[in-house]
Amino acid sequence: VTDQAFVTLATNDVYCQGALVLGQSLRNHMTSRKLAVLTTPEVSSGMRSILHSVFDEVVEVDALDSADSVRLALMQRPELGVTFTKLHCWTLTHYSKCVFMDADTLVLCNVDELFDREEFSAAPDSGWPDCFNSGVFVFRPSLKTYNLLLRFAAEHGSFDGGDQGLLNSFFSNWATADIGKHLPFLYNLSSSAVYTYIPAFNHFGRDAKVVHFLGATKPWNYKYNPQTKTVMQDGTTSGSFHQLPFLALWWNIYSASVLPLLEKLQKVESESEEYKNEVAHSISELTIHFKPEESSPEDERRKWEEGRIDYRGKDAFERIKKKLDAFLH
Ligand code: UDP
Ligand code: GLC
Ligand code: MN
Repeated sequence: VTDQAFVTLATNDVYCQGALVLGQSLRNHMTSRKLAVLTTPEVSSGMRSILHSVFDEVVEVDALDSADSVRLALMQRPELGVTFTKLHCWTLTHYSKCVFMDADTLVLCNVDELFDREEFSAAPDSGWPDCFNSGVFVFRPSLKTYNLLLRFAAEHGSFDGGDQGLLNSFFSNWATADIGKHLPFLYNLSSSAVYTYIPAFNHFGRDAKVVHFLGATKPWNYKYNPQTKTVMQDGTTSGSFHQLPFLALWWNIYSASVLPLLEKLQKVESESEEYKNEVAHSISELTIHFKPEESSPEDERRKWEEGRIDYRGKDAFERIKKKLDAFLH
């Protein structure tokens, strides 16, 4: 199905790690839909190339930020103003229907049936069930909706400073109008908050389809032991040990499919660094022969630190030895 896509967002390299695990989990469960990721210019070119190996489409958009520090402080998440960037998903009009998923979500099985739902479908928020959680939702890209959302944001802002407050005010009849637009909680199971209702988790939890690592501590903030394939317990997990299997699953995908890509990139980058140094070295050799350089001590130091060492000229061993001898005397 080429005119429908799962869409996520990563405005920096850290959230890209989540986006990659999410994308890989959708691939592992054989989605028949396209995968698209929205990025901003802050994402490095190396990370962008890795995103291309998992996603069909890597779309660069401008960052949108609510800059509403007062409301964001209520959630103790000052960094979430930038989630307004999510609104760009309505500009992907080459798709007729999409499912947005936060970069801190993970699918546990194939969830393509979500495309049977209509705009605007989402699951209840565990903190305030008359609101939907905006970590997973079904929508129809449309420039008209996009512009209405921007206008709405400019006029009313967002009651939580992030996209969730804004979208809940915009799609304000979600709670009451059409139960078909209420996704089961299993499609956006919040890994931390669910344990406030442990009996329900024990009863229904095995049918979870999407897990959402909602909250300030994300899977990539934990330590993982690759030998035992377990996530290290720390102060934050001790109260909610139920989420450990989900964290372990995230880390399994990360270490099996994402880390190798990051390591390959690191290798390519360090090799090209060596190549750059070699070129710089031959250039500096040429300059000794053809152009006696006049440069400041700061320039010299910078060249030395960049590995552009003038082995045959001023940095020749003979001269360094002379200098050392002078110090020693
Ligand atoms: N996000 C991002 N960069 C940021 C913060 C958030 O790209 O600096 C995106 C990312 O897709 C993330 C989503 O916005 O999953 C919502 O933020 P987050 O998941 O941290 O919020 P939570 O679900 O914990 O409330
Ligand atoms: C929520 C949602 C997240 C959203 C944030 C800010 O907790 O899970 O997707 O970006 O609030 O509104
Ligand atoms: Mn999230």
